[in-house]
Amino acid sequence: MGDPRVDAIAREARDAAAAAQSAAALEQVRVTYLGRQGLLTQLLRSLGTLPAAERPLVGAAANEAKRELEALLETGLAAALARERRTARERERPDLTLPGRRPPLGGLHPLTLVADEIIAIFAGLGFSVAEGPEVETDYYNFEALNIPRDHPARDMQDTLYLTDDTLLRTHTSPVQIRTMKAQRPPVRIIVPGKVYRRDVADMSHSPMFHQVEGLAVDRAITMGDLRGTLELFAREMFGPRSRIRFRPSFFPFTEPSAEVDVLCFVCQGGGCRLCKQGGWLEILGSGMVHPHVLRNVGYDPEEVTGWAFGMGVERIAMLKYGIDDLRLFFDNDLRFLRQFV
Ligand code: DAH
Repeated sequence: MGDPRVDAIAREARDAAAAAQSAAALEQVRVTYLGRQGLLTQLLRSLGTLPAAERPLVGAAANEAKRELEALLETGLAAALARERRTARERERPDLTLPGRRPPLGGLHPLTLVADEIIAIFAGLGFSVAEGPEVETDYYNFEALNIPRDHPARDMQDTLYLTDDTLLRTHTSPVQIRTMKAQRPPVRIIVPGKVYRRDVADMSHSPMFHQVEGLAVDRAITMGDLRGTLELFAREMFGPRSRIRFRPSFFPFTEPSAEVDVLCFVCQGGGCRLCKQGGWLEILGSGMVHPHVLRNVGYDPEEVTGWAFGMGVERIAMLKYGIDDLRLFFDNDLRFLRQFV
């Protein structure tokens, strides 16, 4: 383009730019020709050393070559960047032929599993599920269950009162009253639910825990029926070799009352850590429904009899799975919970 030196550099630069495939290579070309030490830059800087007659021509040619190269590099760079973006996108495109990653699946809480298992056993015996409110009145939680005014359970120390007359139910037994008031015998219900007590959480206490209540009322229901039913329950829950025993006890709403133990399924009664060497594990409270309770719901104790029981779901779960700290159920530590999925 007028000057052979400029033409030679310009041609070389054009070829280099055309050959450069990446943004980095183009930058290298820019540095080589247009950088501070670049060939064209040096040429322009050395114009002063040329004879005066040549300067305008060489200067114009060099400037023209510089602009041309800048334009070339700019379009080249844009194309290279677009190319690089496209390959990056392709590299990151998911391979749809790979097997999928499974999203983490939730599972049922161990207390739900155990409560469901208890319910299923009694459902198989013809019991249906009944539920009641967690906010109860003094009447259903205490009065109708024959729990006298001066009973320690009514103390503010044990019960979470909302008002003088309303409280968080301390057991599932009030659902006995609600159900019997709503229907005539025969009654066969199983009642799962949350209950509340004024306790500080530790290894064996929680201000909220779960119970399952059972109630059967009909003509000529006996304590023998209770025993047979609970024996069957124990075998289903703790294994076919399970045995139970009744220990006399007291509950205001049953007469007679009994606490029920299951033969320790770890040592078969020989004594071990689980049963604290006693050979037996306490699993529930029970008894024949007190005539006062039957009368309170409008049933005639001369005509019908019944039995009831109440068990703690946490307690059953702890025994069954060998868990020694109640708080594990409520800490929501996935390492604990995952073991039950
Ligand atoms: N309600 C009692 C409690 O929370 C448990 C209980 C004992 C329930 C004997 C019953 C029963 O139905 O017959 O400690």
